[in-house]
Amino acid sequence: MCGIVGYTGPRQAAALLLEGLKRLEYRGYDSAGIALVADGRVEVHKAPGKIGVLEKQLGKTLPAGHAGIAHTRWATHGAPNTVNAHPHTDCGGTLALVHNGIIENAGALRTALAQRGHVFRSETDTEVLAHLVEELLAKQAGGTLVEAVAGALHQVEGTYGIAVVATREPDTIVAARRGSPLLVAIGTGENFVASDASAVLAHTRSVVYLDDGEIAIVRPAEYRILDLDSVEKEKAVTRVDWDLATIERGGHAHFMLKEIMDQPESLRDTLRGRLLEEEGTARLGGLNIDDEQLLQVNRIVLTACGTSWHSALIGEYMMEELARIPSEVEYASEFRYRNPIVDERTLVVGISQSGETADTLAALREAKRRGARTLGLVNVVGSTIAREVDGGIYLHAGPEIGVASTKAFTSQIAALAVLTLKMGRLRALSILQGREVVRALGRLPELVERVLAKAPEVERIAERMMRAQNVLYLGRGYNFPVALEGALKLKEISYIHAEGYPAAEMKHGPIALIDDLMPVVFIAPKDAVYQKVVSNVEEVKARGGRVLAVVTEGDSGLAKLADHKIEVPETLDVLTPVLTVLPLQLLAYYIAVRRGCNVDQPRNLAKSVTVE
Ligand code: AGP
Repeated sequence: MCGIVGYTGPRQAAALLLEGLKRLEYRGYDSAGIALVADGRVEVHKAPGKIGVLEKQLGKTLPAGHAGIAHTRWATHGAPNTVNAHPHTDCGGTLALVHNGIIENAGALRTALAQRGHVFRSETDTEVLAHLVEELLAKQAGGTLVEAVAGALHQVEGTYGIAVVATREPDTIVAARRGSPLLVAIGTGENFVASDASAVLAHTRSVVYLDDGEIAIVRPAEYRILDLDSVEKEKAVTRVDWDLATIERGGHAHFMLKEIMDQPESLRDTLRGRLLEEEGTARLGGLNIDDEQLLQVNRIVLTACGTSWHSALIGEYMMEELARIPSEVEYASEFRYRNPIVDERTLVVGISQSGETADTLAALREAKRRGARTLGLVNVVGSTIAREVDGGIYLHAGPEIGVASTKAFTSQIAALAVLTLKMGRLRALSILQGREVVRALGRLPELVERVLAKAPEVERIAERMMRAQNVLYLGRGYNFPVALEGALKLKEISYIHAEGYPAAEMKHGPIALIDDLMPVVFIAPKDAVYQKVVSNVEEVKARGGRVLAVVTEGDSGLAKLADHKIEVPETLDVLTPVLTVLPLQLLAYYIAVRRGCNVDQPRNLAKSVTVE
C-alpha cells in the first residue's frame, strides 16, 4: 500500500523523509519520490523501483529544504515508472502533492482541467488534485494553501490521504484524509505527517490521527485540524506504544492475520466504481474488449495456479450459470504443455495475485500464440502478466505480504463476479437478476465483517484440531473449490496433510479414511445442494468422524449433527465462497500459530513462483 511522510521544522528535511520512507517499505511499493520547498522553489525527485534507486539518483548531497513530503507508490492507475511516481506537481511547479487512495471521478476532472489549459504529465488519478489546487491558489491571490486544498477536495469523489507543500507557504504542510489513514506526529519545534506511525516513531510517539473529512495545517511550531468547511476540530493526542514490527502489521501478530482482517476493505476497493445498480451490470475500464467482441466469445478458459486456480474454478461455475458461456479451468502448468484448442473466439483469463507466476505467464503466452484473446485478473499493477495480456481487471486488494494468499482470493472472486455480471448482461441475464447480483456484491464487505468477528470461535476450534495429522475438507458446487482452498491453507502454513474433495466423492474412496482421528470440515451453506451435503455429514458421523461445519446463520439441519459449527450470513449461492472461506483461513492461521509455524513465511514456499 502507498506510504506518505512529511516534515517541517528546523532540520534538513530530505534525510528525515528518506528514513521515513524506508520505515514504510514493508507496505509494498513500486516507486518512490520526494519534494522539498526551498528558496521559493519546489524541488521534486522520483524514481521507479526501491528507495535505493531514488537515493542513488539523489547522490551524496541531498536537496536542501526544511519542509518536504515523500511517497512510496503501490500503483493503481498507471504503470510504476518515474512520471507516474509521486509527488505530482502543478503546471507551474509551485506545489507538490502525494496521495494514497483512488479518485473515482479523476477522468471527468482531468478532461475539464485540460480544457482549461492544464498540462498533464502522468497517467495517474492523483495529478488531477495538484492541478485543482493550483487553479484555486491562482484564483485566490491572498488565499491560503489549506483553503485551496479544501476547495479541491470538495470536487473529488473517492478516497484520499494526501499531503501538499507549496511555495506560497514554504514552511507549511497541508494534509487531509478520507478513507486512507493519515496522522500528524508532534515533535519539539518540528512536526511530521505520515500514513502510519512507523515512519516517524524514531522522532516522536505523540500523534494525532485524522478522521475522514478532516484537514490539517502543519507548521514547525504548531498544527491545526479543521473539517473541510474550515471549522476547527479538537483532537486528542495519542501516545503510540506499539513497537515498529507490530505497527507494520497493523497491530496484528502476523501479516496473514492483518490481510485476513483487511478483507472488508480490500473487497470495497476491488468493487469500487465498478457496480452499476441502475443498469444491473458492471463497468470495467481495462478490458480493452468492446461489447461486440465480448459477444463473439463462445468459450472461456480460466488458467492459474494454487489459490488462484481455486478462484478460477469458482469463475467457471459463475460464467456457466450466469453468463451461459461454456467455460473450463486449466492448471497453467498443464495448459502450457498440452495442445489446447483455442482460437480467436476463446477468451483465456489468467488469474494471478503477483502477476509474475511463470506457469500462468507461459500459459497466457501460449494462448496468445494460438490467437485467443487474453485477460488478466491481477493484483500487482504493472506486473508482467498485466503488461502482456490484451486487457484485464486489477484487484486493487493492496499488497499481500503473507505467502498464504487470503484477501487476493476473495478479491479474485469479486472480480470474477463483476466480469461474469458484465458478460451475463450482454447475454441472458435480466436487469432484475443483474441488480440482485449488484446489491449482493455491495453488501459483501459488511457480511465479511460479521464473519471475521467470529474469529475467537474459530480460535477455540483450532485449539482442538491442532494435533490432527490429516484433515478432509468437503463441499459441493461453488463450495467445492472452497474445500480445496481450505485444505491448501492448512497444508501450506501448518504442514498438516489436508485434502479437499467434492462432498459426493467421499463415497468413491475417501470415506475409508474416516475415523475419530481425522477431522472432517464441511462447507455447507444453505444453497441449492445443502440437503445433499447434510446426507454426506450423516455418512461421516455414522462412521465415527468428527465434523466441523461452516453453515448459514440460523441453520438447524446440521446444528445437531456437527461437533462444531461456524455460521456465516446468507448471500447469493454464487457469492457464498467469499464468506465460507473466511473461517477456513482463520482456522489454518490459528492452528499454524499454535503449532509454532512461520505463518507469514512457511517453509519451502515463495510468495511468487517465478520459476517453472
Ligand atoms: C496460495 O496461498 C499460495 N501462496 C500459492 O498457491 C499461490 O496462490 C500460487 O503460487 C499462485 O500465485 P499467483 O496468484 O501470484 O499467480
